Amino acid sequence: SEGKEILPRPPVVTVMGHVDHGKTSLLDALRQTSVAANEAGGITQHLGAFVVSMQSGASITFLDTPGHAAFSAMRARGAAVTDIVVLVVAADDGVMPQTLEAISHAKAANVPIVVAVNKCDKPAANSERVKLQLASEGLLLEDMGGDIQVVEVSALKKTGLDNLEEALLLQAEVMNLKARVDGPAQAYVVEARLHKGRGPLATAIVKAGTLACGQHVVVGSEWGRIRAIRDVVGNLAERATPAMPVEIEGLKGLPMAGDDIIVVQSEERARMLSAGRKKKFERDRLLKISNGRAEELEQSEE
Ligand code: GTP
Ligand code: NA
Ligand code: MG
Repeated sequence: SEGKEILPRPPVVTVMGHVDHGKTSLLDALRQTSVAANEAGGITQHLGAFVVSMQSGASITFLDTPGHAAFSAMRARGAAVTDIVVLVVAADDGVMPQTLEAISHAKAANVPIVVAVNKCDKPAANSERVKLQLASEGLLLEDMGGDIQVVEVSALKKTGLDNLEEALLLQAEVMNLKARVDGPAQAYVVEARLHKGRGPLATAIVKAGTLACGQHVVVGSEWGRIRAIRDVVGNLAERATPAMPVEIEGLKGLPMAGDDIIVVQSEERARMLSAGRKKKFERDRLLKISNGRAEELEQSEE
């Protein structure tokens, strides 16, 4: 293939919203539709990410993990992996403090919102009220002449899920998401964990280029050589292309959510970069502590 081919890529979607408004339930419901569609064997998915493949052949990557803290931590590190935020609002409860936080995070990151009014099965559900509340928070909803789509769903009854997927694909289409497929990967860690036998494992999303087995990488301030790549259902893969969530194995230490992954030419280079970054992180940490002390002193003098 050509060196700099730019191809359409799936959207990466993060679900946010107030506590108990049904984020996890909604993801579970969406995942089930995708599991039913893709996994005859019913292999348990183990990553904090999954892919819904639609009849049309289009697919959507969902990130399971980031709460607000992780989302802003990633944003602070420049890890803009999220293309679209699904704002989940419970139809009976309405807009709550963390709904507002989610809105401001999405706005600050300049990420478009699709609203999922959840729990529409409940007798006390009132989606019109939710829409008015969102509008009064400055969201320009489609029903009111704006371009923010609102979909009514029930994660419990599994209704409205097709509409939600369609809304996300429509939003993605408007955004015309594309990525360079060839060449060195630019990728980010979504979450990381320590596996007893396999060592540090990082769930990663490639933004551009291709991540491949055997490559030397620097991940945040850690380094390693990619020994194995697994897709969301745990199958071994040779490589990861844009918007494809994968789990990578072969790092020497545990990275953090939001860490960048860069490919380097040799182990020596990887070690060197990692050591340099560790030093810099330590310096920044000490600086933060001493700034904190200075502030404390100032306060105690007042
Ligand atoms: P946190 O991660 O704790 O912030 O919560 P969450 O937003 O992930 O909500 P979760 O999926 O844990 O759901 C919270 C509660 O709402 C659970 O008891 C769910 O069963 C219930 N729930 C979620 N979706 C629906 C729905 O569509 N209808 C009804 N009736 N209940 C729902
Ligand atoms: Na909950
Ligand atoms: Mg949850």
